[in-house]
Amino acid sequence: MSMISTSLSGPKSATSYCAPEFSGLRRLCPNNNTNNSHSPSFLRFTSPRKPLRRVLAMAGTGQNGTKESITKLISDLNSAKMESDVDVVVAPPFIYIDQVKSSLTDRIEISAQNSWVSKGGAFTGEISVEQLKDIGCKWVILGHSERRHVIGEDNQFIGKKAGYALSQGVGVIACIGELLEEREAGKTFDVCYQQLKAYADAVPSWDNIVIAYEPVWAIGTGVVATPAQAQEVHVAVRDWLKNNVSAEVASKTRIIYGGSVNGGNCAELAKQKDIDGFLVGGASLKGPEFATIVNSVTSKKVAA
Ligand code: PGA
Repeated sequence: MSMISTSLSGPKSATSYCAPEFSGLRRLCPNNNTNNSHSPSFLRFTSPRKPLRRVLAMAGTGQNGTKESITKLISDLNSAKMESDVDVVVAPPFIYIDQVKSSLTDRIEISAQNSWVSKGGAFTGEISVEQLKDIGCKWVILGHSERRHVIGEDNQFIGKKAGYALSQGVGVIACIGELLEEREAGKTFDVCYQQLKAYADAVPSWDNIVIAYEPVWAIGTGVVATPAQAQEVHVAVRDWLKNNVSAEVASKTRIIYGGSVNGGNCAELAKQKDIDGFLVGGASLKGPEFATIVNSVTSKKVAA
């Protein structure tokens, strides 16, 4: 099922690689400290949110999985103990959605990994939003880095897809995130803002949108953003929403983090005030580990 690492581009591992140490605007520090845990004061943003957003844990993406492995995963998830105040969503490959929907507990919602940009019709090989609704999908992931950087979808096309899905009542997990070279060039915020603007230009409302910040260099690489790096961008995204949409949307919209999240690093990330959950690829292949990530909401509550 979903719980699968995204891999159109083959295995992604870089265990000896270190998280890039740049802020969105410029280098944070000149030394080689890989545990950077502070933002420079000139990057501080006001955060208008109250920490009352429900956490969302999303297992998703990729082409991996077989009927057999998915059956096992469903069984593990059905028997896992998950904190009740977390929304849990899984995004299997299209062809397994029906299998998942019919055997997974209703406590977990289903998402697709993509959808067509407008009303369904003669678009061979595409899946329409209408079909997703028909099969029981409440959500769709749009703008994932692999759609952007492997398939070549641009900001405007992705924005249009989001607008259409929302107009049909399907919630959108709206992905954003910078490439490594963009981060190193100090363009993280600019890239994220452009991606956000394309969504903002096309969506009728933000009521049913979750933003997933996924730095591309962290997806499937084993190189997770530090809690400070993730929080810095999440605050910037919230600030952008405040300035460009409304204070209410900024305060209500959930911003989840994705990119090499696992059972070992989720608790520290979850403590960050503006991280409202996770989009998990590889670590969601294992039901118990995904449950650990879902339950990291408890460390958020303790930190609040
Ligand atoms: P990962 O994948 O958790 O394996 O890094 C995240 C994603 O595919 O969005």
